[in-house]
Amino acid sequence: MPAKITKYICSECGHVTTTKTGKCPSCNSWGTLEILPEVTPTNTKNISSHVKIINALDVKTPERISTGIEEFDRVLGGGLVPGSVILIGGQPGIGKSTLLLQAAGSVAKNYNRPVLYISGEESDAQVALRASRINTASENLYLYSGSELEDALSNLDNENFAFFVLDSVQAMTTGTDSGWPGNLTQVRAVAQKVIDTARAKKIPAVMIGHITKDGKIAGPMILEHMVDTVINFSGEGYSSYRMLRAVKNRYGNTDELGIFEMSEDGLKPVIDKSGLYWNREDSAVAGVAMTIALEGNTPLAAEIQTLSAKTIFPYPRRTARGIELNRFQLLTAVIDRRCKISTLNHDLYINVAGGLTLQDPSADLPACAAIASALKNVALKAGTCWLGEVGLAGEIRPVTRIDLRLKEAAKLGFETAVVSSREKIKFTGIKIIRVSHIDEALAGLLISEKN
Ligand code: TYD
Ligand code: MG
Repeated sequence: MPAKITKYICSECGHVTTTKTGKCPSCNSWGTLEILPEVTPTNTKNISSHVKIINALDVKTPERISTGIEEFDRVLGGGLVPGSVILIGGQPGIGKSTLLLQAAGSVAKNYNRPVLYISGEESDAQVALRASRINTASENLYLYSGSELEDALSNLDNENFAFFVLDSVQAMTTGTDSGWPGNLTQVRAVAQKVIDTARAKKIPAVMIGHITKDGKIAGPMILEHMVDTVINFSGEGYSSYRMLRAVKNRYGNTDELGIFEMSEDGLKPVIDKSGLYWNREDSAVAGVAMTIALEGNTPLAAEIQTLSAKTIFPYPRRTARGIELNRFQLLTAVIDRRCKISTLNHDLYINVAGGLTLQDPSADLPACAAIASALKNVALKAGTCWLGEVGLAGEIRPVTRIDLRLKEAAKLGFETAVVSSREKIKFTGIKIIRVSHIDEALAGLLISEKN
């Protein structure tokens, strides 16, 4: 009989090795190798009771519970699904506790059923103060402050709870596993217990998770696989706007984007999203072009700004923020070659206002328009938005969901949209200028005489 070999598995990435090292050779995490339990062969002859005919299964969609916050519900795919578990991650201070306390308060009030908020991070007084600040206190909103998970969850046995929140998965300990709160085994055990409880009691649960410097939820990556939905709550440090996005969702799509503003009394949904990024007066400045980008299913007006400055260096500088640098360089080359506008003696800087990052190829045309406008030092016609992908030959290609974008543009008061000549458009509420080549797009008529 061959000697038994002990294998080790990395709790972070799942890599299996036969040598126990301090650092995982695959993902370089420290102290994550654990003994891989041996799998005993099972009897495969009989069909197990877990095997069912799909057609015969009852597939009623469970009724969702509304969080009372429309933007949050939309990101979830229509509300909280009973028995499902959501993990929400975000930088410290971004507003995770505020958002969930608001949601917990409104569920308690609107459904007239108890809701449990488990806080392992803050004291009774701190949570109560926040609840009164955001005016969410309700007779049905219960708070458990402490870090013992079993003790906290046992409260759910008492009444017909509608929802519970765990703030945070890193702050709790479970008695069955050793170690400090927040270590890998603890975090995994805490999450598993929350999932088991939510499933057994058919109550939706949200776990708040801390994130690491590089934006991942701290703890084993497996956490994201265990839960049904992973949501990211983010925002730029200097701005009061916050974005809520699903990264994974078993009960909805991941295209939605919810936008909030952090105010004196909690998070307020931002309904007119495009207003955030569009400043009418600024649009008559040279080097500025407007576009309607898509963030998930949400159209957002974005302002692309470019600055050009004569350079004394043999290699002009190209600096980009909000648009990928390689793409910016490529578009600059297209303008140089196809429009005969020399870019060689100029440093060029491009920026997307409002901290937005544009990955959507529809930003090519507005970026080209902004670059050309900066180089010529003439402003683009005000009230115009630009939507198109630019190819290497200078051809303008159609973009996705043009009608949705044009509708949004019209709603915001744009009068004209410059689009690809190949675009198929149903919407009639805005003046359309069709162009097939970048040279044509940048021809005199679009440049205002003002500057
Ligand atoms: P918090 O929800 O505690 O963030 P997280 O749980 O993600 O760490 O929110 C923290 C910040 O939000 C804090 O700096 C204060 C601010 N805030 C407001 O501006 N208005 C409010 O009504 C509340 C409750 C918080
Ligand atoms: Mg918090």
